[in-house]
Amino acid sequence: MQYGHFDAPAREYIITRPDTPAPWANYLGSPAYGAIISNNAGGYSFVKSGAAGRLIRYRFNEQDRPGRYIYLRDDESGDYWSASWQPVGKDLEHYRSVCRHGTGYTIMEAEYKGLCSEVGYYVPLEAAHEVWRLKLTNTGTAARKISVFGFVEFTCESFYEQDQVNLQYTQFITRTYFKNQFILQTINENCLNAVNESRVETRFFGLAGTPVTSYCGDRTAFLGGYRGYGNPISVEKGRLDGTLNYNLNPCGALHTALTLKPGESVSLVFLLGQKREAEAQALIARYEDSGLPDREINDLKTYWHGKLANLKVETPDENFNHMVNTWNAYQCFITFNWSRAASLIYCGQRNGYGYRDTVQDIQGIIHLDPEMALEKLKFMISAQVNHGGALPLVKYDHNPGHEDKPEDASYRTGTGHPSYRADDALWLFPTVWKYITETGDTALLDEEIPYADSGTDTLYNHLYKAIDFSLNHLGIHGLPAGLHADWNDCLRLGANGVSVFVAFQLYYAFEIMLRCALHKGDTAMETRMNELKRKFGAIIEERYWNTDRFVRGITEHGEVVGKPGDPEASLWLNPQSWAIISGFVPQERGRAVMDLVYQQLNTKYGARLMAPSYRRHAFDGALALLFNPSTKENGGIFLQTQGWLILAEALLGRGGRAFEYYLESCPAAQNPIAQTRLMEPYVYSQFTESVDSPFEGRSHVHWLTGTASTVMVGCVEGILGLRPDINGLHLSPAVPASWKNFTIEKIFRGTKLRIQVQNPEGRESGCRKLTVNGVQMAENYIPAAVLKAENEIILEM
Ligand code: GLC
Repeated sequence: MQYGHFDAPAREYIITRPDTPAPWANYLGSPAYGAIISNNAGGYSFVKSGAAGRLIRYRFNEQDRPGRYIYLRDDESGDYWSASWQPVGKDLEHYRSVCRHGTGYTIMEAEYKGLCSEVGYYVPLEAAHEVWRLKLTNTGTAARKISVFGFVEFTCESFYEQDQVNLQYTQFITRTYFKNQFILQTINENCLNAVNESRVETRFFGLAGTPVTSYCGDRTAFLGGYRGYGNPISVEKGRLDGTLNYNLNPCGALHTALTLKPGESVSLVFLLGQKREAEAQALIARYEDSGLPDREINDLKTYWHGKLANLKVETPDENFNHMVNTWNAYQCFITFNWSRAASLIYCGQRNGYGYRDTVQDIQGIIHLDPEMALEKLKFMISAQVNHGGALPLVKYDHNPGHEDKPEDASYRTGTGHPSYRADDALWLFPTVWKYITETGDTALLDEEIPYADSGTDTLYNHLYKAIDFSLNHLGIHGLPAGLHADWNDCLRLGANGVSVFVAFQLYYAFEIMLRCALHKGDTAMETRMNELKRKFGAIIEERYWNTDRFVRGITEHGEVVGKPGDPEASLWLNPQSWAIISGFVPQERGRAVMDLVYQQLNTKYGARLMAPSYRRHAFDGALALLFNPSTKENGGIFLQTQGWLILAEALLGRGGRAFEYYLESCPAAQNPIAQTRLMEPYVYSQFTESVDSPFEGRSHVHWLTGTASTVMVGCVEGILGLRPDINGLHLSPAVPASWKNFTIEKIFRGTKLRIQVQNPEGRESGCRKLTVNGVQMAENYIPAAVLKAENEIILEM
């Protein structure tokens, strides 16, 4: 079943059936002023933190209520509805609804009994307030008397948790006032004159473009006793009773009564923010300019579409095009900006950036906006500790050079992270390499960047220290210890046990360090890295290759995890895909091992993280056992790993297989089975339930997930084969044989590349001929030096 479709030129997803299997959300603004909105206008807003700066209420896991509601009422018949299908939820036979999620804005259109409404919800670029612009049109033949009600439920105080549960306190610190065009809410107002002004907070909900007819600032007065958001008494009565809250629950509700002649349209604006009274007043005055919202929405489009335009593909597969050109890319920016801060699943309680998550997120945008990536990359490098390990959580107010670290009790209690993880700092290698090769900015290697705790070093030395940290934390057999966790949060392999995934990450790190050393002419480092590659390679080969696969690791007590014949968890995906990504395994064995993955782990929705799921045979540190079989790390399809799988198959040149995996878990390709998938067909989720579940195919944890960046990398470097190195760009597409022609437009180091790929013989990879501006290249490599401002490139496969 399908609930909507993609509009590629507009870069919108259009929901035509509002009764979606789950709330399908969009992100507005930035964490400076963030707003999450569902296709039925549910969601919340916050300033800086979803947990500590919450402005309006949202009750997790209770459908998607409340939200940003606009109620419309026919003042002659008394019939009322909402401008989004919910919360009133009129019969869909008579109520037509369209929701358009775009880049930084969401538009809800509705038509009911001869009245059309269109609400544009957005946060203007770099602003700290939100706008709901309503246009109403009378499409009938008679004049209509219509009442419009805007409603938000303010939190009593900014701390989400306190607001929800500590009512004996929070319900008694807030009041609302009516100030001509807005409701003003104050928190701890009494402190204003006497004690500490900084405790006082004020928020407002205002109306511009039309006078306020009636108002209300108290939730109970608005809703009425024993009523809900779907049938507020004040909307039913057609008038707000003017009650303002003094204790208990505040709200902002504003009513305007209008008359619309046949064919007539009006436009008005509701505004919400955390502002002082005078600022609120000034802001409302600005929106008396009725052209402002259109200009602001256009600015958002220009900003986002501009970023997304830096890579544009036209392939025979529309789903791939929708995702790579717009939605996967946009999701990468959202995860980059928002980390794991706030969604309809996360409230934002984590006080910082997860190291591995953020360093991975950066990879998703490097090909589109390297400057933006660089700032965060340096920030993350400054969260590496002087001994090379990385802070598992980097606080939002991170202070390089002065931070406490997992060795300190203050860090452990402040962040909840008990110790280092084996993989964190190693994520720097693919990310730094991608940045340097995308931009050619090798000078970065010599840039001094502080450590989290003390001292500073060049990036080159930071990288070396990351390797050093792993070399100082080896388990049995001399491979990297699993420590508190590796990429898999549910694996405790400890200080003695070994993580083979991390061993491959480290092997990859040696290779990147080697390339950097070659560039710098550092022969001592070059020799050292070659030696390490040999030494670690031999251990992996000897100890961790078992029959037909790489095992996952060794537990603290010496038990091998992931060997043939184990009753559970006998084959793990990541060590196989990373054996290839790290460059460790030669092509032929790579293909064999990936065939095993295909046979034993692949399903119609992607390959499982491992199989069979744990039930009876988990070891002590296998926390995945906590999950139901085929769920999350316990044998679910952990979608982030599909990106690595796609990349690995593409590196093997098997475009058909790479693309098969791509489509199995591609949200856009699952648009027709939205009721199975549940989550938005335009964004990746964290995982999909697999074969042991009665709900195979159901996906969970939308938007803020590492899936976005790894799949993007799988597409860009893998399927499209855009693989820059320091001096230029390799072109190595790995595509299905059915792709006879496709084009890629890319901005690369300030030049424009127009790449046409021709594949008349239906190959899956390889290059017969490459020409750049009519000149044939020696191989499938474009030296940066030959590039002009604009380049016509033809690759024959
Ligand atoms: C979640 C975490 C991520 C971890 C993954 C696998 O996505 O955010 O850090 O790598 O789970 O356990």
